[in-house]
Amino acid sequence: MENIHAVYNGRFNFLNDIKISPLSRAYTFSDSVYEVIPFCNSNIIAFDKHITRLKNSCDSLSFKADVKKISSEILDLINKSNHANGYVYYQVSRGIDPIRSHMFDDSISLETFGYVVEHNFISKSLTVMICEDMRWQRCDIKSTSLLGNVLSMNNARNNGCDEVIMHKNNLITEGGASNVFFANDDCVFTPSLSNNILPGITRELLIEEIKQAGIKIEEGQFDVDDLLRAKSIWLTSSTKGLAQVKEISGKKTNLVNDHQLFKACEEIFVKNFLS
Ligand code: PDD
Repeated sequence: MENIHAVYNGRFNFLNDIKISPLSRAYTFSDSVYEVIPFCNSNIIAFDKHITRLKNSCDSLSFKADVKKISSEILDLINKSNHANGYVYYQVSRGIDPIRSHMFDDSISLETFGYVVEHNFISKSLTVMICEDMRWQRCDIKSTSLLGNVLSMNNARNNGCDEVIMHKNNLITEGGASNVFFANDDCVFTPSLSNNILPGITRELLIEEIKQAGIKIEEGQFDVDDLLRAKSIWLTSSTKGLAQVKEISGKKTNLVNDHQLFKACEEIFVKNFLS
């Protein structure tokens, strides 16, 4: 495997050469937040929005992060990598405890870690599984506490699926690592922002562009039956872009392959961000 450029606590190194403490609170408590910042044809997609969200995640956990320094480390990683297409993973944890303790000592310093990898943004059509959203009540924070997502997604994979679409009390929340959009013949729909979903950057960019293009879009609360009635469903994320859902495991649907509204949204997104 190629050497992956990384940075740990401000020092650049190859990923394999970084040593971390097992008493990092990222390791013991998932007391950490992260970002995934994509770049395509050497253009960083919505850099400022990613940095703002990272700052919001840090503020939610009372991390006093040096956002300027983090921004410059992310840019340096992309420059060092020489990839045209890829993403940076960047994580901030509360720091390293002297000994594991739920209640943290305010004097420990934040721990930061990032790396850059190559990635291509061509998405395949997905088979998804609908499942109960078993996560905590602050899914709007981009925290590394992702066990609910991890267990649901691996259960889906064991059942031949690529992703999940989760619901809480029958209301659609989001994918395991993505936001959800669906459409009938004349309108696009997506769940409104709340504590139960991550405010996805791809979601935000797409909504802005859809509105500009004059396509009808409604943000609201939608249930599983609304989703099952849809002509088209797609998931969005910084690494998937827009990925069409071709099948919902075990469910009868009305999905139309390459529905006109999906194709229109995909074209807008590719034109504006991936070309
Ligand atoms: N995940 N919802 C969840 C739970 C996510 O994990 C992600 C992205 C999104 C989409 O957000 P954005 O458009 O800003 O990438 C929504 C990243 C890619 C990850 O964890 O790897």
